[in-house]
Amino acid sequence: MAGRLEGKAAVVVGAGQTPGETIGNGRAMAVLFAREGARVLCVDRIAERAEETVAMIVAEGGTASALAADITKAADCQMIVDEAKARLGRLDILINNVGIGGGDAPAHRLEEAVFDRILSVNLKGMWLTLKAALPVMREQGGGAIVNISSLAAVGGGIQLAYEVSKAGVNRLTTSVAQSNARYGIRANAIMMGYIDTPMAVSGIAAASGRSTTEVRAERDARVPLRGRMGTAWDTAYAALFLASDEAQFITGETLRVDGGMGTRIG
Ligand SMILES: NC(=O)c1ccc[n+]([C@@H]2O[C@H](COP(=O)([O-])OP(=O)(O)OC[C@H]3O[C@@H](n4cnc5c(N)ncnc54)[C@H](O)[C@@H]3O)[C@@H](O)[C@H]2O)c1
Repeated sequence: MAGRLEGKAAVVVGAGQTPGETIGNGRAMAVLFAREGARVLCVDRIAERAEETVAMIVAEGGTASALAADITKAADCQMIVDEAKARLGRLDILINNVGIGGGDAPAHRLEEAVFDRILSVNLKGMWLTLKAALPVMREQGGGAIVNISSLAAVGGGIQLAYEVSKAGVNRLTTSVAQSNARYGIRANAIMMGYIDTPMAVSGIAAASGRSTTEVRAERDARVPLRGRMGTAWDTAYAALFLASDEAQFITGETLRVDGGMGTRIG
């Protein structure tokens, strides 16, 4: 049976992952997309992380290659698109998964350097990537973009820089969707709730001096659906749908994948 992304050329930016005991969102998306028939360019700031993802895909019989690039640099974003064209021939699917936290705080305590770092990676980097990719998608007459946002875009109150960056990702998505619809380009965002990835669980454990078991139990308890965090595969299946032709009439959407946490926000 043909895969849901058979013949598609996909670029996953942030396709590596923070090392740890579970799988990260970008890695799960790259692996699932390859399983569904896409040829995948795995991009990450850290080459070994992208190469690990490629090794997983190739071990399963899929097609992928790795590229090191830092999306805070415009030249690197252009290189991503040039390499996609050179290696894959076209650019059907672009996944913008890169997102960082760390050192964040409410407005009155947040340090300027932390605000600048998080906004530069999470929001400006995503825009630079889109700026490079959109002309190619326009020229080829279409493409599907999925931007990874967070429920923090609409709630939280304790990590200002991350929240503002993800609110920006939502608006970046709808703006790009609006101005590119006539070129057949779709842009959607996924607002993830609590996902059991190393960046989230090990990151919080390290920052707060608690064990990953404690952090995991606390996060699980806050999720209405089954009392359990999601996994990166929940992110990947939502992205698969939005990236595929099954979603051909959907653009400018921000889809919550959060085990019901957003129902508490409204
Ligand atoms: N895990 C969660 O609970 C959760 C919740 C909501 C949203 N998200 C979002 O999901 C996305 C991925 O999260 P994850 O937990 O899988 O993280 P992760 O750290 O495992 O993966 C992100 C990857 O991006 C790469 N990266 C970082 N800066 C980069 C840069 N400047 N250029 C290129 N690559 C860069 C990292 O090396 C890493 O491999 C992020 O956008 C995050 O905000 C996660």
